[in-house]
Amino acid sequence: MTEHDSDGGSDADSGTDEDAETAADRVPVLLVRGDREYLVEPGAEMGTDLGVLEVPEDVQPGDTLETHLGDEFHVRRLRGPDLFHHFERTGAPMVPRDIGLVIGETGIARGDRVLDAGTGTGVLAASMARAGADVVTYEQDPDFADVARENMALGGVDDVVDVRTGDVCEELETLESSSFDVITLDTADAADVVAHAPELLVDGGFVAVYSPFIESTREVAETAREADLANVRTRETIQREMEFDDRGSRPSTAPVGHTGYLTFARNE
Ligand SMILES: C[S@@+](CC[C@H](N)C(=O)[O-])C[C@H]1O[C@@H](n2cnc3c(N)ncnc32)[C@H](O)[C@@H]1O
Repeated sequence: MTEHDSDGGSDADSGTDEDAETAADRVPVLLVRGDREYLVEPGAEMGTDLGVLEVPEDVQPGDTLETHLGDEFHVRRLRGPDLFHHFERTGAPMVPRDIGLVIGETGIARGDRVLDAGTGTGVLAASMARAGADVVTYEQDPDFADVARENMALGGVDDVVDVRTGDVCEELETLESSSFDVITLDTADAADVVAHAPELLVDGGFVAVYSPFIESTREVAETAREADLANVRTRETIQREMEFDDRGSRPSTAPVGHTGYLTFARNE
């Protein structure tokens, strides 16, 4: 179970009911009361300062559940952006708007096979799985990989996301050629994988790389061109929040909404 409050923070909690059933059997749901949200599995017991709540095995979105002290929670179906708030965090998770760009620019869809690294928190991997892809994702930190596996179960995608512990660069030789439709990279050494993208990708497949810094972004773009990938392009991801008040409407004066750089290329 994880709790999320309105400030966007995320806390891990140890209340998850561990068992061997897969996501297909147990679809996690959100329990919502005001600005409190808990992501729980059916059958779990949730302890809060409002009392203990037993989540029925057959819980459904739209239900209302009560704690033993009589406080009500509404049951809501999990949606993609909830992963960002409720997964236990390790490596900095990709924000929903950048995930939207990755999925939109690469066309990830049902039946796609995706190679992803590094897994980190696993928000991107889980989001691609929810879009219908089968994902193989590498995480070099064994503790992070363990947390990511738990997150995949919490997100209901542990049956389609294979979290492998290891350095993706050292595993490339073990991967079959032309076995991926899309490669997504969020690592400092992404260029080393991009150099091998033409062997790993099917004809017409895409590579998408998220880089926080311009230096690594440039290295990725140059490597993609040297590897003869087509349509290499880089975009800064930046958004302005709009404010509407009695005086008028304008972009927020809060700090600029820059997150990083996304580089895309295609195997042709
Ligand atoms: C920024 S996080 C990725 C976050 C992820 N995209 C998400 O949405 O949750 C980067 C992760 O890559 C891992 N990493 C870095 N280099 C790696 C490599 N060569 N192979 C596997 N994992 C790597 C790091 O340990 C870290 O957990």
